Amino acid sequence: MAGQQYEIRENLTSLDLRLRASAAAMPEGLAELISAIALAGKSIAQKVRRARIEDVVGEVGVTNVQGEVQQKLDVISNELLKHTLARIPSVAVIASEEEEEVLVLRNRSDGGVFSVLFDPLDGSSNIDVGVGIGTIFSVLPNREESTDTAASALQPGTSQLAAGYVLYGSQVALVLTIGDGVDMYVLDPCLGEFVLVAEGLRMPDRKKVYSLNEAYVDTFPESYRRYLTHAHKSGYSGRYIGSMVADVHRTLIKGGVFLYPPTESNPDGKLRLLYEANPMSLLIEQAGGRASTGSGRILQVRPTRVHQRTPVILGSAVEVEQVESHQP
Ligand code: AHG
Ligand code: MN
Ligand code: MN
Repeated sequence: MAGQQYEIRENLTSLDLRLRASAAAMPEGLAELISAIALAGKSIAQKVRRARIEDVVGEVGVTNVQGEVQQKLDVISNELLKHTLARIPSVAVIASEEEEEVLVLRNRSDGGVFSVLFDPLDGSSNIDVGVGIGTIFSVLPNREESTDTAASALQPGTSQLAAGYVLYGSQVALVLTIGDGVDMYVLDPCLGEFVLVAEGLRMPDRKKVYSLNEAYVDTFPESYRRYLTHAHKSGYSGRYIGSMVADVHRTLIKGGVFLYPPTESNPDGKLRLLYEANPMSLLIEQAGGRASTGSGRILQVRPTRVHQRTPVILGSAVEVEQVESHQP
């Protein structure tokens, strides 16, 4: 028979194997923490897949702290992450989109050296319709004295030790940075493992694609409208899923720019700095892209509130510069 009829991945490795191998070079406990987040991600992926079957679609009937309607899967994902992280002895603080207050699990003197911030399930409007949604997470060091542990959630994005997301899409992908490049893993459902598929991911420098909710165009600041006029005249294409995690994933892989500008109803934009904008910005920058508020680097914003919002412009370096060049 001519040629080999079977394929074997020669460089097969998994997230857990790689974390184990590099644990000693990382802050103590960080490998275990990332592994725990990945485990929660697998568990949420399972719930998302079976949501229709188990009838956990739709609204819970209450709103969260942002005044947004909680979906059943928002609550389930939040609980899964909280319970998984609570067992990890290095976690000091948990902050979640679905929790009004920061939860303090333990102080630094009791071993709580990390703060974990997350959007348990991003893309609420797409949960029930089989479109890509995901979990976004950010890990910060806790350097606070015991009296002030909760404050460790309020650090600029430049302090992040690790950041990433798990996309529940046509594949379950985990995209991770530990501050030195971006790696992508895909969940092999047979192995139950996140298998490495791309190491040191670099995003394209340019791509004529913009991703934003253009229905709000009349309420965007003038600078964004001027940018859009320029894009329309310059052969750009539009792509918008409405789940940040899926839109950013596409932007990371294919290039382009993702935006959530200020609007009339959300003068600071809609997206949350600590558990949406910051982790995505670190990933994008680590892959060679840029992430801007329109007036500065997202990662340098000094947070004052756990649920604070920020305008977001992130993606290919040239495309973000193009948007910025239209800013006042
Ligand atoms: P979440 O579901 O976590 O509240 O986030 C939804 C966000 C984000 O995923 C997306 O980019 C944006 O909302 C979409 O907002 P619009 O519907 O206003 O475009
Ligand atoms: Mn979100
Ligand atoms: Mn969410």
